[in-house]
Amino acid sequence: MNDSNQNMDWGMKNRVSKIIRPEDGRCVMLAVDHGYFLGPTEGLEVPGRTIQPLLSYADSLMITRGVLRTSVNPNTDVPIVLRVSGGSSIIGEDLSNESITTSIEDAIKLNATCLALSIFVASKYEHQTLTALSKLVDEGEKYGIPVLAVTAVGKEMTRDARYLSLACRIAAELGAHVVKTYYCENFERVVEGCPVPVVIAGGKKLSKEIDALELAYNAIEQGAVGVDMGRNIWQSDHPIAMIKAVRAIVHNNSDAEEAYNILLKEKEKETQQHRIIKSVD
Ligand code: 5RP
Repeated sequence: MNDSNQNMDWGMKNRVSKIIRPEDGRCVMLAVDHGYFLGPTEGLEVPGRTIQPLLSYADSLMITRGVLRTSVNPNTDVPIVLRVSGGSSIIGEDLSNESITTSIEDAIKLNATCLALSIFVASKYEHQTLTALSKLVDEGEKYGIPVLAVTAVGKEMTRDARYLSLACRIAAELGAHVVKTYYCENFERVVEGCPVPVVIAGGKKLSKEIDALELAYNAIEQGAVGVDMGRNIWQSDHPIAMIKAVRAIVHNNSDAEEAYNILLKEKEKETQQHRIIKSVD
């Protein structure tokens, strides 16, 4: 992991340590913020129902304030990565037209451990989203709250190492404390050029679970500190089994095949439990 937190003050270091576990320098962030532009997307129609069973397996939860307030028990000790950017929808004119949607005061009230915002490098709204990132970092620095920059990729952009390393580096240069991006060929180049920790999004649900596990494994092997994964976990037929398998890769250095075997065993356990419950009914 990059030793990018050397110059941080105590509060900032403490919060980063809640997101990236100090024991191994890794993280499993569960992303459930998709509704902010996708609405009630498949698997996340009733957010509380999706989130609750997965919460104890997540190191942190990436979420908007609306879903946090309505759908997560405030007794939770899972650190919150609060998405504070938005303003466009999947059916609107341009998804990249995002601004800051949540004040720092509200983020503090919500006890956010980290703030998250998307940047759209090379889009029409590049300048607006990059200056919003800088502003958010200024606010975060005042209160010791780290910022996760999400390198969102518009339809017209290619998710290759050239583009993603440009976007990640710009995010880090503007002060992001952690950067979320996509896995790509030559991913090491992306990590190498980014002086702050990098996590990967899972992206759209892949048809085979092993492919999502391979993606996570390759990203970790090539320098990512963890995942910020959503759809490949909660759109799976067995979300708990899937998050356990992802955890094995991130925290136990399992390879994709070992993680897949964990997934199969967990699926089998779940099936047996359902059989027992049905027979009692
Ligand atoms: C949406 C996001 C999501 O949190 C991110 O894409 C991770 O989720 P997934 O693994 O489903 O891609 O930032 O803009």
